[in-house]
Formats: sequence, C-alpha cells, structure tokens
Amino acid sequence: MPAVNYRLEGEVAVLTIANPPVNALSLAVREGLLQGLQRAEQERAVRAVVVTGADGTFAAGADINEVASGLVLQSPITREVQAQMEAGTKPIVAAIEGVALGGGFELALACHFRVAAASARVGLPEVKLGLIPGAGGTQRFTRLAGPQAALEAITSGAHLPAARALELGLVDELAEPPLAGALALARRAAAEGRPLRIASDLSERIRDVSPELFAAFRRRLEPKARGQLAPWRIVDSIEAACTLPKEAAFAREREYFIECRDSPQRQALVHVFFAEREARKIPGLGAQVSALPIRRAAVIGAGTMGAGIAMTFANAGIPVSVLELSGEALERGLSLVRSNYDGSVARGSLTRERAERALALIQGWTGYQALGTADIVIEAVFEDLKVKQQVFARLDQEAAPHAILATNTSTLDIDAIAASTSRPERVVGTHFFSPANVMRLLENVRGKHTSPQTIATVMALARTLGKIAVLAGNCDGFIGNRMLMFYGAQAEFLLEEGATPEQIDRVMEGFGFAMGPLAVRDLAGNDVGLAIRKGRRLPPDERWSPILERLVGEGRLGQKAGKGFYRYEGRTRIPDAEVLALIEGVSRDLGIQRRQIPDEEILDRLLHPLVNEGARVVEEGIAIRASDVDVVYVNGYGFPAYKGGPMYWGRQAGLARVVQTMRRLAPTHGARWRPAPLLERLAASGKGWND
Ligand code: COA
Repeated sequence: MPAVNYRLEGEVAVLTIANPPVNALSLAVREGLLQGLQRAEQERAVRAVVVTGADGTFAAGADINEVASGLVLQSPITREVQAQMEAGTKPIVAAIEGVALGGGFELALACHFRVAAASARVGLPEVKLGLIPGAGGTQRFTRLAGPQAALEAITSGAHLPAARALELGLVDELAEPPLAGALALARRAAAEGRPLRIASDLSERIRDVSPELFAAFRRRLEPKARGQLAPWRIVDSIEAACTLPKEAAFAREREYFIECRDSPQRQALVHVFFAEREARKIPGLGAQVSALPIRRAAVIGAGTMGAGIAMTFANAGIPVSVLELSGEALERGLSLVRSNYDGSVARGSLTRERAERALALIQGWTGYQALGTADIVIEAVFEDLKVKQQVFARLDQEAAPHAILATNTSTLDIDAIAASTSRPERVVGTHFFSPANVMRLLENVRGKHTSPQTIATVMALARTLGKIAVLAGNCDGFIGNRMLMFYGAQAEFLLEEGATPEQIDRVMEGFGFAMGPLAVRDLAGNDVGLAIRKGRRLPPDERWSPILERLVGEGRLGQKAGKGFYRYEGRTRIPDAEVLALIEGVSRDLGIQRRQIPDEEILDRLLHPLVNEGARVVEEGIAIRASDVDVVYVNGYGFPAYKGGPMYWGRQAGLARVVQTMRRLAPTHGARWRPAPLLERLAASGKGWND
C-alpha cells in the first residue's frame, strides 16, 4: 500500500494520504504527494486535483518522531510539496475529514481551496509540543484569517471546529462527504477557469495592522506563557507576517521553528506527549480483556467533587444520577452544577444549547433506587474510611451485579474499601482532581483484587470522558498525593529555616508552577491540610512542622478566611507581617537560627524529594513507569509541562544531585527522606529511568 494513493475521478486526480494511524506526513507521504502533484500537473487529462486522507482523517501533522529526532528532515520536506502546489497551474482542493492538524493543516492551507466535513477539526497545535508551525502555517493562517485570529488560535494550539474555520476564512465550504464537495468544487474551478487562490500571496488581512495589536496580545499572553519559548515566537512570527516582505517573513518563521525545535522545552513537551499515550498501555492487560460499556453512571455525593464528576459524565453524553442523603444537600449540589454551566455559557466556552443538553443528563436522587441501572457508581463522599466502607456495603447491595464500584478517595486504602463488598474484583479507585470537570488527570487505582476488566473499563472510561488516565497501585496517597507530602512538608521546613511564603511561592512560580505551594495550601484550606496530616501516622523519627497547626489555631485557614500564609483582598494575596512573626516564633521555639535561603536551595529542596519519592513509587510498582509519574504531575499538580514532569526534570537536572540533596536531608528529616535505592543505583551508573 503506497503512502499516497493516486487515482482519477474523471478529470480530477485524487491524492489520498494513507499512513496509519493518523496520516502523519512522513518522508514516504511527502514523496508520494510530490510525485502525485507532479504527475497531475503533467497529465493532460487531469484538470484539477483533490488532496485527502484515508480512514476518515486528513493528516495529524508532521511525524512527531521525525521532528523529535532533531535531524534535518530528508527531502522532499513539506515546504517543497507546498511549493509544487503553489507553482501548479491546476486547482488543488483539500478534502478534510477528521483532523487536519499541524503540518497536515499547513498542507491544506497551501492548497487553493479547502472543503471540510462539519465534524472536522483543524488547527496548528505545535505550541503544545514546544514548537511553532514550520511550514508557513503562521504566515498563511494570518493572511487568510487575519492576525488576531491567528494569534489566538496558534498560541493556544486550539483545534477549531470546521464551522469556526469557515467563519474565519480558513475553509471555503462545508460538505458531506467532503470528498464529494471537494470534487465538485475542483470541477467547477477548472471549468470556470477560476483564479487559483494562493494563501501566501494574499495581503488584504495583513495590511496596516496596528503594532498595538501585538503589544496588547503580548500583555494578555504574559500570565499564561511566562517562561515558555514557543508562544512568544509564534507572536513574533505572526507579527513578521504583517510587517516584513513575504520571503523575509517566511524565513523568519523558519528561524523561529529551528530555535524552538532545538530547545529543551520542545524535548520536554514531546516527552509528555508520548508519555500520555504510553500511560494507557497496561502490561499484562491483553487485547482479549475488553472494557465494560458504560451507558449510565451514578455519583454518590453532590459536594464540589461529586458535582464536578457528574458534569464530566454529562459533558461526555453519559446519563448520570447524583445521590445525596438530604434533599437540601442534593439541591445545593445541583445548583452548583447549574451555576457552573451558566458560568461557562457566560464566558462563551459553552453554548446554551450544549449546557442544557448536559444538564438534562444529570438527575438528582435522595435514595438508592437509581443505582440499579448504573454500569459504574462513583463514590465521592467524605474522606473517611469508615464512612466509605458503609457506603460501599450499601452500594454492593443496591447496584447491578455487573456494576463497577469506584471510589474517588485521594489517599485511602482501596482494599479496605473493597473488603466491605462482595465484589472486590469490581472495586477500583477513580481519583478525580478538583475541579473534576476541568482537570484532565484521572488517577485510577487498582486494589489487590481489582480485575483486569475493571481496570480496562476505567482506563477506557477516561478517554470517553476526555481525561488522561494513569494507573496507580494502592498505597497511602497513590502516586500524586504520596509524593506531594514531601514537597509540602519541605515548604514548611524552609519557612522555619528562614524563607518567607512569598519567596517560596515566587521561586516555584518562577519555575513554572501556576501557583506556589503555600498559595495552594491557602486555596485548599489549611484546616483541610492539617486534618489530612493528623490522619497520617508519621514515623517517630520524622521531622514535622507546627506551622500549619499554629496558623489554623489563629484562624488563618486560607483564602476562605481572608488570611492564611497571606492576607487576602479578594483573591489577591498580600504578604503579611503577622504570618512572618508567627513563623519566626516557630523558628525560635524550635531553636532554629534563621538564615538567608538561596532560591536555588528552595528549588532543590522542594523538587528533589519529589523525584526521590517518585523513584520509590516506580520501584515499588505503584507507578508502572517513571513517565506515568510525569503525566500525573503535569496534568494534576500544575508541574510545568515544558519541564517534562518531575522524573524527566530530575534526569535533566542530574539524578546524582538529587541523591546528594536527599543524603543531606535524611539525618535531620528521618528515614523516609533517604535516597531511594533505585535512584542511588541510577545515579551511580549514570543511567536514566528507562535505560
Ligand atoms: N506523529 C506521529 N505519531 C502520532 C502523531 C504524529 N503527528 N499524532 C499521533 N500519533 C500517534 C500517537 O502517538 C498514537 O500512537 P500509539 O497508538 O502508538 O500510542 C497514535 O498516533 C494515535 O494517536 P492518539 O493521540 O492516541 O489518538 P487520538 O485519536 O486520541 O488523537 C490526534 C488523534 C491526531 C488528535 C492526536 O494524536 C494529536 O493531537 N496528535 C498530534 C497532532 C500535532 O500536534 N501535530 C503537530 C505535529 S508537529
């Protein structure tokens, strides 16, 4: 099977890209396209060309493996194919089904016309891989749709629905099937001798663009793209399209592309891309294990978490029952759901119609009678083992025999919960992150008895719900929260030793976390943090800090109380001398001489323990692979994706340095802070996680 199939439909040559699974533009595809275009140009019987993709998709872009190799691509490169298109004398129409992304969309943009299915999505998502489009994408998009639309779409990497692309002038027609529409358009264009529309020659949308447009956009981008390279280079490149002659602007895009391609951020983001896909693969779960279809779900508890989980199902089109004990609590939960949807509609991120459709799928109940029809029941009640065990015993009686019983616990023992049922093989953890309808991570947790089918079902469910799933083993805190204990504790130790909350948060936000650890504590509630800590039995040799307890004692519960590690005016945090006095008091009581702490020490002492505990998690088999830990941290804990996740970052920073930090900490912090054996072995051998 050739990578590009050439066939004639009357007078139209149809070039079909066939490179499973996503028709990426590999060398064979580029060669096939170039040869097909040349042949069509030469054959006298051919009057027009249609370019399309096999198996319901146009093309998902450059072959990421090829780009990631960092090697100079072998000729013909995509730009040579595009040059052939633009030099041709016959109309070329792209027929877009499925997705046209990245290089795939750049290819379509170099065609003279584009016809798409209404369900198709197009876009330039390179930014998500730390790249900028390198085959004229920023240039042609800007010339077709104008700089404002280009800035928004390309810096966010958005997948645009076909209707929006039509509105923006990126697509000329919608048609079902698009191939038929494209053939018709190709024939019309040839018959009418319609002028060929070359996007790179259009200039109307790029004339007289005010420099203020770029200045304003850069100001808006700052909070989102701080520390990153690619988004800024995209803006520069779009600005070049509007200010430089065509050739110079295209050359500028190319320079920026190479700069991004060769950057550590690009490497880290490509690591995350493949890590997210690898995380779906569960060793030992053969193809013969099929997931249970989930047609209907139930959620127990309509608190913030339960409401968010219910919305997640409804958004994916799955009917969901929400159960609460009292009508009042139920009503509170349902009104939370409604106000969340209203907010999305008001912000313009959801249409009223879609919100209503989702709302209609959510049904509230104050009894267990709704359970019998659910294929999965997700418990999201108070985080207390006894309470959960009672709930599970009841669920076991009320739910259909085939139903999976899942718990949203973030730390508790899955086996202990499963033991209160007669179906431990159908009990599993599904740890959603708050807000559940927004956060992309789903940490699935398998207990001792969880069956392969149950695991396959919750892994597949994650995809249906638009989540990224990682499978974790059962231990206190699973992957994410287990590691977080060390990160969080270290922030408080550093306060005792001389740092201030604003210094710690500044350093971590400078590293790329959306929020520093103390700001996060204030957001989650210091009383909540304290309760979790008290619920844990720490080993007697473990260092612990009384700061949290004292803050709570003084009513400094966090944002909700207007004061915590900071003082709050609305959501704005303001350093507070009272907190500093409290912290200094703790240092005094503990006999700690406060000192100036260098920023670098803060970074090392927060991140190295994260890597160290990550290594234990991998060694114990709690995580299947190191890259799963990265997926958890990037998608659930705000670790900057462009740094690749803690394990990837640790490897780049040097595992030997991590070992050194842990050796320094262990004598005063306790045995749990010793270097993980796996880490010591790798550091000694100079190997990485997968070597
Ligand atoms: N190059 C190479 N491989 C790619 C690829 C690309 N551009 N896009 C996807 N793949 C691979 C995936 O790694 C995966 O491989 P696996 O099955 O061995 O794990 C397979 O194709 C299917 O992709 P997946 O993401 O699992 O399927 P999906 O249906 O959820 O999503 C896409 C399909 C196209 C939307 C998604 O893969 C995507 O966004 N791809 C990247 C697009 C992009 O950034 N293009 C610009 C590249 S510079």
